[in-house]
Amino acid sequence: MSDKKIMSKVDLAIHGAPPAFLQPLHVGQPNIINRDKFLAGVARALDSYWLTNNGPLVQEFEHRVADQLGVKHCVAMCNGTIALEIAIRALGLTGEVIVPSWTFVATAHALYWQGITPVFADIDPVTHNLDPVAVRRMITPRTSGMIGVHLWGRAAPVDELQAIADEYGLKLMFDAAHAFGSTYQGQSIGQFGACEVFSFHATKSFNTMEGGAVTTNDDELAEAIRLMRNFGFKGYDNVIHPGTNGKMIEVCAAMGLANLDGFDAIVVENQGIHAAYQQMLAGIPGIKLLSYDSSERNSHHYVVLEVGSDCPVRRDDLVAALQAENILARRYFWPGCHRMQPYRDLFPHAGLVLPNTIAVAEKVVVLPNHSAAISTIGQVLLALMKSVN
Ligand SMILES: Cc1ncc(COP(=O)(O)O)c(C=O)c1O
Repeated sequence: MSDKKIMSKVDLAIHGAPPAFLQPLHVGQPNIINRDKFLAGVARALDSYWLTNNGPLVQEFEHRVADQLGVKHCVAMCNGTIALEIAIRALGLTGEVIVPSWTFVATAHALYWQGITPVFADIDPVTHNLDPVAVRRMITPRTSGMIGVHLWGRAAPVDELQAIADEYGLKLMFDAAHAFGSTYQGQSIGQFGACEVFSFHATKSFNTMEGGAVTTNDDELAEAIRLMRNFGFKGYDNVIHPGTNGKMIEVCAAMGLANLDGFDAIVVENQGIHAAYQQMLAGIPGIKLLSYDSSERNSHHYVVLEVGSDCPVRRDDLVAALQAENILARRYFWPGCHRMQPYRDLFPHAGLVLPNTIAVAEKVVVLPNHSAAISTIGQVLLALMKSVN
């Protein structure tokens, strides 16, 4: 909580007043849930001299994650991006793959690094997830698959995308980087498509510092992914595949095991923060807080606002004012992958078929999920509104 009171625009840091917070409040400050358990895991790794290469902590971590998600296989990785690349390769995707432009750029990069063209399909402006009708429009004879992204941990339209995959003989996988602990129709994310890919980056609700995983119910696919993760080695001296190095290290698995235990408590805390934001924003015209379906699980990690054209305050002015107070609100995932290099040059006219992506990109702000920030954000909003009236 900040002691600073913002009554009017002269109190705003953007107009020269001192900031509300001395230290920056970030979106996605890491959750460090059980320091002692983590340090005990690190000691275990050091004592055993087994620091990486599928060590006991990684194996325990994989079993626990697979159990928790109700999926047969969890293959832990060094990060979500490499996990995506390996999954894309193991699935045999080629040519063109349909993805949303409204996602973190790693979804597109992972394809591009595998020599595949990401083809951007538009989203549903309400869910922010792929629109199946738009996906159908982007299918060509070169399309080999689709990557659905469960944005903000809210499930992509799994059944509709699977129906398209079945109809056209396409592969379907999911980028579940935001969706640890989420459900789709009551079933844990992690079980859908050919495989799902998680990121356990420090900024995620559940983190292993850096890390990721591929989860699947397909034994053969899991085997291929394990092989690729470890240079293609099958036993000592026997390389049977051109693999890479995607291994998770023991220290990261120790962090994951420590954080798994406290994950439910983090979700409860996030729900409280989300409800407090909802209350603070009620009655502010033109601003909508993205909601989470109460019949599904979601970590409530992301506090996502849409600042509409009917809001007296412009989105970018709000972001600038908050950042000046050291509340580091972000315009995730502005401007959309299709307007970033190298995709801008690849598809100069992509925007013509992405109207919803562009509209959403112009209004989204992600706020830190810190209870300490809420009242100051409310005061900043009111001061900005007064100054434009
Ligand atoms: C949607 C999405 N996909 C992929 C990634 C990449 O994961 P990582 O940072 O673990 O490589 C992230 C996050 O960073 C993400 O948000």
